[in-house]
Amino acid sequence: MDGNGRWAKQKGKLRVFGHENGAKAVKQVVEGCAELDVKNLTLYAFSTENWKRPKLEVQTLMKLLISSLKKEIKTLHDNKIKLNAIGNLQALPTKVYSELMDVIEITKDNSKVTLTLALSYGSREELINTVKQISIKVKNNIISPEKIDELVINQHLYTQNLPDVDLLIRTGGEQRISNFLLWQIAYAELYFTNVFWPDFTKEHLYEAIINYQKRERRFGKTSEQLS
Ligand code: FPP
Repeated sequence: MDGNGRWAKQKGKLRVFGHENGAKAVKQVVEGCAELDVKNLTLYAFSTENWKRPKLEVQTLMKLLISSLKKEIKTLHDNKIKLNAIGNLQALPTKVYSELMDVIEITKDNSKVTLTLALSYGSREELINTVKQISIKVKNNIISPEKIDELVINQHLYTQNLPDVDLLIRTGGEQRISNFLLWQIAYAELYFTNVFWPDFTKEHLYEAIINYQKRERRFGKTSEQLS
C-alpha cells in the first residue's frame, strides 16, 4: 500500500493525512475482494523496517490501526470476513496487539474472505524464524533433514494457512518487493501501478485483476503444454 506520504505531500498536508486516507482505501479494496469472491487478501500495512520512521508517524499508524479495527469490526464480521495477521506481532504496542487479537477471535469462524494484515512484517525475518524452528525440530529428532521439503517450509512460515500469492499489486510507482512474502511470491504475477494508495479504488482493483486474467501462468512449462 505505497504512496500515502507522497499523496499527502502533493496536497500540502502531513504524511499522516495520507495514512488516514490510506485506511479509507483499505475499505474499498476489502469490499471489492468480497464482491469478486477473492478468497485471500494480504495487506502490507507495516514492515519491520517501518519502525525506523519518525516516532510521530509510527504512533499515528498504530493509533490508526486501533481505530480502524474498532470501527470496522462489525462490518468485517457482518460480511463474513476473517481477520488474520502475520509478522512479529509481539513487537506491536499492547493496545494494538490486544485489539487485533480480539478481532481475530471474533471473526475466526468466518469464511468468505481471509484478510491478512502484515504488521511488523519482514520476509527475511520470517525466513530466519522458519529456519530456527525447523533446526530445533531437527536437533530434537522430530524432523530428519532429508524430509525437509517445500511443504515443511510452508508449514513453518507465518503464512502456514494461506495459499501462495497469485497476484501482487504494488501502488505508488515503485517497482520493487521491499521484503514482502519473498518465498510465497515465487510464481506470483506482479502488477505495478503509479496510483498512490489513497487514490486506489475498487475500479483500480478490477483493472489489476483483469490484467492478471489476461496473463498466461506457465509455472515453468511451455504454452503448448498448458493447452
Ligand atoms: C506506505 O506508504 C504505507 C504505509 C507504511 C502504511 C500503510 C497503512 C495504511 C494504509 C493505513 C492503515 C492500515 C489498515 C490496515 C487499516 P508510504 O508512507 O511509504 O508512502 P510514500 O512512499 O509516498 O512515502
